[in-house]
Amino acid sequence: MEVKVFNNAQEIAVACADIFTQQLTEKKNSVLGLATGASPVPTYKELIARYNDGKISFKDVKTYNLDEYCNLPRDDKNSYYTFMHENLFNSVDIKEENVHVLDGNAAEPEKEAADFDAMIDADGGIDLQLLGIGTNGHIGFNEPSDAFSDGTFKVKLTDSTIKSNSIYFDDDSMPRYALTMGINSIMKAKKIVLIATGASKAQAIKATVNGEVTPLCPASILQNHEDAVLLIDKDAASLL
Ligand code: F6R
Repeated sequence: MEVKVFNNAQEIAVACADIFTQQLTEKKNSVLGLATGASPVPTYKELIARYNDGKISFKDVKTYNLDEYCNLPRDDKNSYYTFMHENLFNSVDIKEENVHVLDGNAAEPEKEAADFDAMIDADGGIDLQLLGIGTNGHIGFNEPSDAFSDGTFKVKLTDSTIKSNSIYFDDDSMPRYALTMGINSIMKAKKIVLIATGASKAQAIKATVNGEVTPLCPASILQNHEDAVLLIDKDAASLL
């Protein structure tokens, strides 16, 4: 696992967009694994700028998002489906049929999860997976637990995640459950890039980089991936 430290989020966005640009240049029909949350927003802005400059295209790209809330309408302002369209998809030339965001309202979540994993496999697996990290070390919504998860599954969110993400929701309406790609789904990606900024991530980054590989810090599994890079700012790196 490689760790690169930058001065600020904008420098990280440029470095991360460089990785995506190289990927899309080498393979125009790349399969991308994407993340939501605050961390990837500057990277998505940078990718849109490069698309507008004619440097990259998403015409033949397929995307799979890491996770989606349960019991939240797809068109809710806080759904990850809406987030991805507002922050990336509506501004580039991706085809809607190539966009895959889990349906958190599926009547049969297990089937939705299994179908999602099967589609990724049928598309040849994820070439490049983008990750953020929770203050508790989660990746996707794989919360700290006794064992690393396998494929996509329905998860109960922890109090720490509910506290972090409640800022986006009115009163106490944040969903308590989500569908998420599992740790094994994430680890199957050919290349992984994780971005983190701010002192609130420092403890999780320390456990990820210097701690033992344990499901108590799900991101620590990235130590076992042969092509994973962490792009982090000085504050997130402050305990390394
Ligand atoms: C989002 C996701 C989460 C976030 C993490 C960090 O799709 O999978 O793991 O990456 O919660 O969120 P931010 O970037 O908002 O701090």
